Formats: sequence, C-alpha cells, structure tokens
Amino acid sequence: MKDLLHIPVMLEETLQALAVGPGGRYIDGTVGAGGHARAILELSAPGGQLLGFDADPASLAVARRNLRHSEGSYLLVNRNFDQMEAVARSNDFYPVHGVLLDLGLASMQLTEAGRGFSFQHGQPLDMRFSPEQKLTAADIINTYAEADIADILWRYGEERKSRIIARRIVEHRPFKTTTELAAMISRAVGRHEDIHPATRSFQALRIAVNDELVKLERALDQATRLLGFGGRLVVISYHSLEDRIVKRFMQQESAECICPPELPECRCGHAARLRLLNKKVITPSPEEVWDNPRSRSAKLRAAERILSREEAAPLETHFFLSPKEPVIAEEQSEVGSPTPEPSGTPLRRRLAM
Ligand SMILES: C[S@@+](CC[C@H](N)C(=O)[O-])C[C@H]1O[C@@H](n2cnc3c(N)ncnc32)[C@H](O)[C@@H]1O
Repeated sequence: MKDLLHIPVMLEETLQALAVGPGGRYIDGTVGAGGHARAILELSAPGGQLLGFDADPASLAVARRNLRHSEGSYLLVNRNFDQMEAVARSNDFYPVHGVLLDLGLASMQLTEAGRGFSFQHGQPLDMRFSPEQKLTAADIINTYAEADIADILWRYGEERKSRIIARRIVEHRPFKTTTELAAMISRAVGRHEDIHPATRSFQALRIAVNDELVKLERALDQATRLLGFGGRLVVISYHSLEDRIVKRFMQQESAECICPPELPECRCGHAARLRLLNKKVITPSPEEVWDNPRSRSAKLRAAERILSREEAAPLETHFFLSPKEPVIAEEQSEVGSPTPEPSGTPLRRRLAM
C-alpha cells in the first residue's frame, strides 16, 4: 500500500485557514486517507491532538497507516460526522481550535473495486460510505417508484433530464452494475457536454444513499458548538449543493439579524456565532488543478467562532470593574477558552491541550 492514495486538496490554504499551531486541538470530520490530518498533526506538534472521523472503515485503515508517525496524538473513529458532537463530548475533546470537513469521496474510494462510486469499471450499485448502512444505490434504482427516482436525480444532481432518465431506469431495471446504469443513462440523454451524461445522476444517487446534505447541515451546527472562541471552521466542498449549504450556514451564523428585510425591527433574536474569514470562496490554483485534476471543483470556506452577543451579555458586568475592555477581548481571542455547554449545565474552564 502506498503512503498517500489521496492528494489533500488546497492543503496550504486549509492549514492557514485553520490557523494550525503547536498544542492545538483539531477535529477532522472527513479523515479519508489522512492527508490533511497528517499535516495538521505535524504542524500542531508538540502537543497537538486530532479527533478524526470517517464513515468508511476502509478509509480509516489507510489513514491509520499514514498517521503512524503521530501515534498517540490522534483518535480515529468510524462514525458519521453528524455524530461529531456526541463523540467529542464523550471523549472530553472540546472546545477545539479547529474543525475541518473535506467533503465527498477520497480518490481510493473511486478506484477501489466494489464500492460502486465510479462508472469507469463495472461495480455493484452500492455507493454506501459505511457498510453498516442498509440502503444501497441498487435499492433505489431497482425498487423506488419512477417519480421518487426522478425527484432524487433532480434534487441531488440538478439533472434537467431527471424524468426521462427515471422513466428509462424503470423500463429497463433491474440493473446490477454501475457500467450498465451509466450506459443506459448515456443512451437515454445523449452526450452534449464535457462531463459524462451519468455524472449528475451518480452524484445524486450517492447523496441520497448517504443522506449527505442533511448530515452536512447537522455537522456544521455541531462543529460550531464545539469550537472555542477564536476557533476555525473550514469546509471544502465539491459541488454546488454542498457549497450552497456551507455558504448559507456561514452567512446566517455571521449575521446579527436574520429577519426578513421587510420587517421594520429585529424580532429574530439571532446572535452571530461566526465571523467569515473569506467573503469570496477560495479555489485551487491552476497549478494545483493541473497536478491534481480532482481538485478542480473544490471550494473552501472558512469562519471563526466569535463570542456571540448572547454569550457576551453575562460578561458585560465586568465592564463596571474594569472599563478598559479586555474582559471580552481576551475571552474572544483565546482559543481554548470555555465554550457554552448545552443549556442548563455550567460553563467549564479547560486548559488548552
Ligand atoms: C475527500 S475525502 C477526505 C480526504 C482527506 N481530507 C485527505 O486528505 O486524505 C472525504 C472522506 O470523507 C468521508 N465522508 C464523507 N462524508 C462523510 C460523513 N458524513 N461522515 C463521515 N465521513 C464522511 C469519506 O468516506 C471520505 O473518506
């Protein structure tokens, strides 16, 4: 097995956005082959720690090998990243200095036989990240109603020919392999663009099988709760549906008010928890795309956890003691300072690493 079967995308930009430093505590929600995780551990030494998640046990096996030089500094967990908060809290791994989500697939998942993510070679229609999950792409293709298949292709693949593809699928099923399905989609819609005509349908099926968008929304919220003040949330996405969710989440969480603009006064009571670090999305350099064509659709967004208005309110009394401001300023910039526990439990002060 080679050391790295996946080239980490926008590695420098990611490390910079995470502001990785010695003694930092990080969560990698999508460890994959461990490319980003390895660099985070190297840069955060001495004392850096990483909690890594991957729903796919095969990815974790590769990551373990690639992280062997940092033995003792990381914990890898074979769980979906929508369980990040429960796992981090039960391991007392919070607040953290940074959370990374590098969404989608690792290269080896595309090339690995039998996973069903690629239509380059005939593979069973599986597409599950985790073998423990029940639903497979074959279940959707071979048993779902035509209207439901069309809906999946439209919603998760933005496939304009979703109806005709769904009709042909139902007429010609059952399908056993990815190549059979891709060939049928090609025949149904013809080839008009640079990308293979089945690309969007395969993306849609993968998203549906793994319920990816719902899990992403949950993970973003949990990640924000786990960050210490000044901690960084960094997300790399690979298609517009993911990027839209990340963009909307970060915009909403960095706004003080989310009331509709026509309301004369604020009624939402919303308080910003994040500050956007890049208003314009970061994309790979032409050199990186040349070296690693799989990076071409990548988009990186980053935000910093700030002390929200609500969280700052109880601290305002300190201004009477010291009018010179540092109480909030220090709390806000000190990563590793306390993050609120779920309501009802007291704040706990933790030492960084
Ligand atoms: C693009 S790769 C990450 C590559 C990694 N950053 C590296 O440098 O090696 C995405 C990984 O995230 C995993 N993954 C995708 N969605 C997930 C989810 N909801 N929960 C846990 N792991 C997920 C996939 O199994 C895959 O291994």
